[in-house]
Amino acid sequence: MKPLTGKTIVLGISGGIAAYKAATLCSRLVSWGASVRVIMTEGATRFITPLTLQTLSRHPVATDVFDERDAAVVQHIDWADAADLVIVAPATANVIGKMANGIADDMLTTTLLAATAPIIVAPAMNVHMWEHPAVIENVNKLAARGVRFVEPGTGQLACGYVGKGRLAEPEEIAEAAAAWLTGPRPLAGRKVLVTAGGTVERIDPVRYITNDSSGKMGFALAEAARDYGAEVTLICAKTDEKPPGGVEVVRVQSAADMHEAVLRRLGAVDAVVKAAAVADYRPAVRHDAKIKKSGETLTLELVRNPDILQAIGEWKEAHPGERAPFTIGFAAETGDLEKYATDKLARKKCDLIVANDVSQPGAGFGTDTNIASVFGPEGLVESIPLSAKRQVAERIWQLAAERMNRA
Ligand code: C5P
Repeated sequence: MKPLTGKTIVLGISGGIAAYKAATLCSRLVSWGASVRVIMTEGATRFITPLTLQTLSRHPVATDVFDERDAAVVQHIDWADAADLVIVAPATANVIGKMANGIADDMLTTTLLAATAPIIVAPAMNVHMWEHPAVIENVNKLAARGVRFVEPGTGQLACGYVGKGRLAEPEEIAEAAAAWLTGPRPLAGRKVLVTAGGTVERIDPVRYITNDSSGKMGFALAEAARDYGAEVTLICAKTDEKPPGGVEVVRVQSAADMHEAVLRRLGAVDAVVKAAAVADYRPAVRHDAKIKKSGETLTLELVRNPDILQAIGEWKEAHPGERAPFTIGFAAETGDLEKYATDKLARKKCDLIVANDVSQPGAGFGTDTNIASVFGPEGLVESIPLSAKRQVAERIWQLAAERMNRA
């Protein structure tokens, strides 16, 4: 059977030069068995004709919200309701701006506002437009609402510039659509919280203590949870990586901030993964003014930070009737994994501990890969060999989902 048989996809095409590539996308989706309904903006029809898309999709193309052909239905509502997925490709800065701000002034934007199906947006525009703060803000706003972005590629742009802004290849957009519609969704209907990055403990306005966490493992976990159907909140401390789209990002600095952000959400989430590297100590005093150079030595006094993972365990014990989150902790060790991980699991009352031996090449901080051993209350659950962090994340979620469903 074709992968998209039985699926209805609304394909919105807006007015950029890349509109011609939407024809290839449409034809790929149809060849994979999808029933494709095309909506074109007025601008799109200047670049490619509705007849082309009508021929490829084998359905009439909608361009005018007032052109109601079937008296039995209101077309934009009918199409929005019928959609299993909406794709906007290419998406101009203009249509992204309208989506972000709830503007519905043509057939495409009206249908988008009425649609409850997932939405994939594939932007295409000039590099300076893509980097404009207004566009960045709009993209972030949509991503926070769960819109998936297939990011533009870098290369020669039609306007003559070389930079980021080229529409992703139709093949890549079709694959994102197929993955969304047919991939496994073991976390559908679940709300999860992921912490990532390294906390920042301020000494004075210009100095701080932090660690080498890149945030990559936490981001991979957030992204995998999103693709497995969860609603994801990512509590993010210091990282240079770009967080995944389609998740709610909450920025924090210190362990105390993260503690507050996590505890505030307990009772409303089904799982918490603590992939962040949280400082165990912070300076006892945070100076309001820059510390001046004086003597030959300077002593900083450090005090213990709250242990967030432990606090979650304590919260669970104190709130027996409430929605107890399945808790996954991380342990970065340099040997004797089993001993430290099982001890941590018991002490912090976790459901799973993911231990990585950071002394092994390819594991731990900064790398794109990891090697992990997952421990449960019964001991070693699984050893995950050297794999991409994304794959490690998927396996962790599969193990967690099995256990959450069992409970
Ligand atoms: O004890 P250790 O710091 O090695 O434990 C690591 C695990 O505990 C990680 O999941 C980390 O996010 C979490 N942690 C925490 N609060 C702290 C320190 C660590 O939640 N203050």
